[in-house]
Amino acid sequence: MLQSIQWKENCLLLLNQTLLPNKVEYIECRDYQVVAEAIRRLEVRGAPAIGVAAAFGIVLGAKEFSNSQYFWTSLLKVAEELGQTRPTAVNLFWAIERMMSVASRYDKNSDIADVILALEHEAIAIAAEDLDMNSKIAHFGAELFNIPVSVLTHCNAGALATAGLGTALGVVRQAFSEGNITRVFADETRPLLQGARLTAWELMQDNIPVTIITDNMTGWVMKKNMVQAVIVGADRITLNGDVANKIGTYGVAVLAKEHNIPFYVAAPVSTFDFTMESGLNIPIEERDATEVTHFAGIRTAPEGIEVFNPAFDVTPSSLITAIITEYGVLKGPYNEAIAELQQKIKGV
Ligand code: MRU
Repeated sequence: MLQSIQWKENCLLLLNQTLLPNKVEYIECRDYQVVAEAIRRLEVRGAPAIGVAAAFGIVLGAKEFSNSQYFWTSLLKVAEELGQTRPTAVNLFWAIERMMSVASRYDKNSDIADVILALEHEAIAIAAEDLDMNSKIAHFGAELFNIPVSVLTHCNAGALATAGLGTALGVVRQAFSEGNITRVFADETRPLLQGARLTAWELMQDNIPVTIITDNMTGWVMKKNMVQAVIVGADRITLNGDVANKIGTYGVAVLAKEHNIPFYVAAPVSTFDFTMESGLNIPIEERDATEVTHFAGIRTAPEGIEVFNPAFDVTPSSLITAIITEYGVLKGPYNEAIAELQQKIKGV
């Protein structure tokens, strides 16, 4: 199984996703700054994956400062720096908070070795749980497919974007194994080509038939009845069911509605922001203009041109047919379904 994040005692190995599909190369992270930089540069990317990477980043940071008299303030600084890497995917903050709440069980009189061990256990648990959640999502999601269909996906919500298996692509893998997915259409996903570079590569590794299209071909592919469902991942889901995901997702959802095609979102509960009412409040990352003005290092737009480069957009819940979680499939009205989900999580 493809594992883009591996923990080897004092070293975090991250599959460098900026080099795919041309090179399969792991970055060896021995300090938290390298992890932070890898998240910033999208060498590790995808909401659950950056949460897992940040959790191990905290372990590395704790190890770095284990002999310092300023261990506790340094640990806070590590968490803060990791939290400043990317603003949209809530999994990052969820994982950091979870790690820091483990640290908060100890105090200044505790043995630092015990704190580090507890942090390491927690990071390993976060990664293992992510894989387990994805397997549950895959099974719940596959139940939505009971006749062979072609599906369309946007960006990469696969093993590369998680601790393994993937969210949207986990569902695809499961439904494909049951004979209910015949082909995946992958939007190339401008500007950084997560669809063309990553989803295509990942599915080809598993011999799942995949066709890439440029983003502006989606409407026509739908019009020609070449896809019967859309399935994507998420970076943040708010209490009303709005979904932030890779830029372009919103357009795909509008097109799906126009063509009467179900639009599914697959995400673990770590992607839900239970403190935010609506998608209007989600901070949307804006990235460097060169991602738009250049292609493979070559300038493709005039020098000095104004650029708007949001990395994510928000799909309103009204366009979403169902949200697949590890607790089951949610359908609208999402305010109610998500409130019930919260109760389930609490075990009420
Ligand atoms: O900028 P990226 O590549 O990190 O964006 C990733 C996405 O938008 C994914 O679709 C999302 O994180 C879900 S991954 C399971």
